Amino acid sequence: MTSSLYKHKILILDFGSQYTQLIARRIREAHVYCEIHPYNIPINEIKKFAPKGIIFSGGPLSVYEKGAPLPDPKVLELGIPILGICYGMQYLTYALGGEVGRAQEREYGHAVIEILDDKDLFHGLGKDDGQIVWMSHGDRIEKMPPGFVVLAQSRNSPIAAMADRTRKFYGVQFHPEVAHTPQGPRILSNFLFEICGCEPSWTMSSFARRTIRSLREQIGKDRVICGISGGVDSSVTAVLLHKAVGKQLSCIFVDNGLLRRGETEEVMELFGKRYHMDLHVVDASQHFLRRLKGVTDPEQKRKIIGREFIRVFEKKAKELGKVTYLAQGTLYPDVIESVSFKGPSATIKSHHNVGGLPSVMKLKLIEPLRELFKDEVRQVGRELGLPNDLVMRQPFPGPGLAVRILGEVTHERLEILRAADVIVLDEIRGAGLYEKVWQAFAVLLPVRTVGVMGDERTYEHVIAVRIVDSLDAMTADWTRVPYDVLARISNRIINSVQGVNRVVYDISSKPPSTIEWE
Ligand code: XMP
Repeated sequence: MTSSLYKHKILILDFGSQYTQLIARRIREAHVYCEIHPYNIPINEIKKFAPKGIIFSGGPLSVYEKGAPLPDPKVLELGIPILGICYGMQYLTYALGGEVGRAQEREYGHAVIEILDDKDLFHGLGKDDGQIVWMSHGDRIEKMPPGFVVLAQSRNSPIAAMADRTRKFYGVQFHPEVAHTPQGPRILSNFLFEICGCEPSWTMSSFARRTIRSLREQIGKDRVICGISGGVDSSVTAVLLHKAVGKQLSCIFVDNGLLRRGETEEVMELFGKRYHMDLHVVDASQHFLRRLKGVTDPEQKRKIIGREFIRVFEKKAKELGKVTYLAQGTLYPDVIESVSFKGPSATIKSHHNVGGLPSVMKLKLIEPLRELFKDEVRQVGRELGLPNDLVMRQPFPGPGLAVRILGEVTHERLEILRAADVIVLDEIRGAGLYEKVWQAFAVLLPVRTVGVMGDERTYEHVIAVRIVDSLDAMTADWTRVPYDVLARISNRIINSVQGVNRVVYDISSKPPSTIEWE
């Protein structure tokens, strides 16, 4: 477990709900630090973490089912307030001597609850008004454990919320963490502040201050290297370290030749000229292109790029002399993914990041962002004074334009894609959509089509435009971009990008498609 830096913390026990991360998001938004851990975390670790409150997440199983996740019951004897959500509430009931049964109908979607008691958990919600909540359950509470009172009821769940105020145990059948429960943030805040007595001390400016201080202590007089990609995570990591240890930090930027137009120059301008970092730009573009010659298989491209990146990075790092630490921009969702109850999901595409570096290079790892969600990282970036364009930058894949050029990656095809990409982004920015959509980019297809320009027949390349909405890249939908914007993108590409005579718009969602084409 990490942060002993924060006094008022909440522990979320994960019973496998798809919404567990959302609980953490909502609590962080209320400025309280929290961590997600598997439901079966040992009791002494909970004691060490010393949370002010514990939240039991929902989960897909029924408490009576074989294999149902059951925590160590001693968690109920710690004298710490508990809020059980859905399965979490059913577990409380089951463990404390109540009765859980099958609901007559599975309840999924909006429901209205009637609040019977608005003293603490539902404080400020209005007892006489029905509250809209999001339900997703097959089981329900038939009989409360001794000591509990009903706080709310719905048509399908006579015990939609309950409490044992002596022990400070609370349970809700619905999901306060999802946006479909409009008063959810208020309910969670009531739990945090009224019931657990937390103080809202988790802010990104305090995070930045404390992190810089603790990095300085940890690193001492040693040296650190950090790979920067031009994206938000590695940039924020580098700036935090730069503020902590200044010239003891060396940054390496590998130009793999697969970047968008102007990216290398932007990195040099910001980190080299403005921050005066010890920045090492390695121009390996020809090297990567040679390695990719004749390669058309997407996985092979990814593997080659990942391998060559490590090689180039390592070579440069060796030239820098003795270094102790490698800094990396790992975020909290990656950390949760590796410890969660469900385990990591299947690999669809092998991702290229610097994950393989520390073991190869025998360096100690520093991950200053491993407690943060993406929007918190952006907030830290703002606190550190990074430009808005960088802070709000859309994700860009490690293998770069190589996975947006279907078929062989050549210098000529890279130039075509870069020119088209500039136009897509320019129009998306112009329409005020850049920060609203998850990603917008161009893809170069490996086919040619017939067209007519002036009186001439043409036989040229096709560009596909991909613009998607998403919350976390796990699922995505194609953006309903206004036709006018699509028309401008198409006209500009066809008129100004030599070698392209057709533009198509990708209308596939993820799943079953993916965001990138390779
Ligand atoms: P897919 O194509 O799998 O992409 O739907 C999901 C998100 O991940 C980004 N992506 C990558 N990011 N290294 C990265 O750092 C990679 O190899 C990589 N491949 C895909 C993609 O842009 C999207 O945001």
